[in-house]
Amino acid sequence: MELQFSRHRRLRTSASMRALVRENHLTPDDFIYPLFIYEGENIRREVSSMPGVFQVSMDNLKAEMDDIVAHGIKSVLLFGIPTTKDECGTQAFHDHGIIQVATRWIKEHYPEIIIVADTCLCEYTSHGHCGMVEGDKILNDESLELLVKTAIAQAEAGADIIAPSNMMDGFVAAIRAGLDEAGFKDIPIMSYAVKYASAFYGPFREAAEGAPQFGDRKTYQMDPANRMEAFREAESDVAEGADFLIVKPGMPYLDIVRDVKNNFNLPVVAYNVSGEYSMIKAAAANGWIDERQTVMEMLIAFKRAGADLIITYAAKDACGWLKEDH
Ligand code: PBG
Repeated sequence: MELQFSRHRRLRTSASMRALVRENHLTPDDFIYPLFIYEGENIRREVSSMPGVFQVSMDNLKAEMDDIVAHGIKSVLLFGIPTTKDECGTQAFHDHGIIQVATRWIKEHYPEIIIVADTCLCEYTSHGHCGMVEGDKILNDESLELLVKTAIAQAEAGADIIAPSNMMDGFVAAIRAGLDEAGFKDIPIMSYAVKYASAFYGPFREAAEGAPQFGDRKTYQMDPANRMEAFREAESDVAEGADFLIVKPGMPYLDIVRDVKNNFNLPVVAYNVSGEYSMIKAAAANGWIDERQTVMEMLIAFKRAGADLIITYAAKDACGWLKEDH
């Protein structure tokens, strides 16, 4: 009897053979590393739910940046934790707000590093929502004005990319118009175009201290059950002038990453969020999985799904392992 079948294993016979036919690769250029800058002094505090991730104050930023550069990371995503919060998140757009201060300092000392500014209000508002609040409502159009102010303040401080994450409708149109008018025509917008209301953000809310004080974010972030809505969100952001499209979270939403990659001709960014990072850390700490293998498998899966860039807390670890591999 002569069997007819394909010998797929021919291309898996050795590490060299597997390397020869490998379809996707990771490099340090793929990663954007989130940084939490804490207003104040003498702070370098590990986030308890995110081992290896630290909140740092300005006096500890040099050591942190040196470490980032030594790992070969070329871009950072900045989040600020202000000492004072108010109803409209004034510290988000104040000229001396912590992110503006940090951006100016990084630009001066590490001019080659790309600074992506997260443009949101939740870390800066007393109620912890991403926009203006009236009663129990999150106001859309009123919030846009504050977001535009924030984006302009970030650009004035030297941010290379503006990344609005607030999920108000029209934020790309508003921020694009505001940046253009303020003379920042060449500053791109990396839009959190497709952002779901996710429980995977839990550890981030400890890191950035921006948990909503009432209700949740379900009236502005997307329902995890929806796919077609992601097309509508991405379409409007493209039409409004976005330069990059973020899909967030990453791991449970790889189908959406692929959809966005196949249907829109802009760089796609997967946000490998805090909860995804923490799950692996916790399982690895228990000896239940191999951290290095799991993290690298997760990251290559983003590339396979179509992500051009990955925002990830694992960037330092991954860069270190990539170096060892070479
Ligand atoms: C701010 C923002 C959040 C994250 C990034 N920007 C939190 C949220 O929307 O609640 C989450 C990132 C992460 O979990 O790693 N709007």
